[in-house]
Amino acid sequence: MLESSLEFLRCVRCDTRLDLDIFKFDEEIQEGFLECKKCKLIFPIIEKIPILWDDFSRYLSTHKILGGELYQSSVTEKMKLYLKSSLSKTTQTSEDRSSLETRWSQIYQNSQKSKFYSTIKKNLDSMPRTKLALEYGCSIGTITSFMADSHDMVFGIDKSFSALTYAKKSSKKNLDYVIADSFSPIFGKLQFSLILALNVLELMEPVELIKQISKQISAGYVVISDPYDFDRGVNSVRKPVDESALRKNLENMGFRISSKTKKPCHIPWNLKLNPRATLNYKVDLIIGKK
Ligand SMILES: C[S@@+](CC[C@H](N)C(=O)[O-])C[C@H]1O[C@@H](n2cnc3c(N)ncnc32)[C@H](O)[C@@H]1O
Ligand SMILES: [Zn+2]
Repeated sequence: MLESSLEFLRCVRCDTRLDLDIFKFDEEIQEGFLECKKCKLIFPIIEKIPILWDDFSRYLSTHKILGGELYQSSVTEKMKLYLKSSLSKTTQTSEDRSSLETRWSQIYQNSQKSKFYSTIKKNLDSMPRTKLALEYGCSIGTITSFMADSHDMVFGIDKSFSALTYAKKSSKKNLDYVIADSFSPIFGKLQFSLILALNVLELMEPVELIKQISKQISAGYVVISDPYDFDRGVNSVRKPVDESALRKNLENMGFRISSKTKKPCHIPWNLKLNPRATLNYKVDLIIGKK
């Protein structure tokens, strides 16, 4: 984590500024604690990644394999003790997401050449420079890192530690990543001038997400893409949207849809699952401005 990111982050429970305790510093904060003095919550920074989860033991309950690996790889005694105590408070859950997240992180690494990413980059190139940009569900940071070349400060949020470990490999002075749930208020009432949410609507309740984005942008741009692949049984979001409902919702929230994305489009997004299988989506793209 960059030391400069501290001024942007807030306690997810009470919106208070966080105190920083650095255990190991190597160009940026490698290990340490972010602490809310008011509610006594601690958010660890491990392998340069801040984990702003309301309850770290609950995060580890679905990531026990990851927790064990972090315990092994942590370099300070304080962090080892903290991980040991957090692991001892984990509860029994039926799923461990660690391997799944590692697998998907690998799939995104193998799919960076998909036309989807070059199309998004081309669209971003035609936008003005902004002071503060954010990407929800940024995964391995392909687009987040690209944005850092033309915006003042850029953040990526994802809940996959494996994806952000890869993202952190390309470090920039104005680029940082946070492990958090997208709906968790880690930035308090901070306003952004550009927010991206690419291919995440199947995983984050769509209307809730755009409501939140709308609150975070008083003047600026939103970029949303999605394949509308909502048919996921019990794992599906409660209120799916289609290409026209998404546009209508954004307009009702005060966004003007750019003329080139007024009509739905079909950008190829190819995910290489393994050497013999590729998942071929055609995604829609919407750029809105307030
Ligand atoms: C389908 S992937 C899309 C990745 C990237 N935006 C892209 O288009 O290449 C969705 C990403 O959202 C993340 N994610 C899902 N639900 C999330 C949540 N509630 N909060 C934060 N990240 C989440 C996943 O870990 C995953 O990396
Ligand atoms: Zn607090």
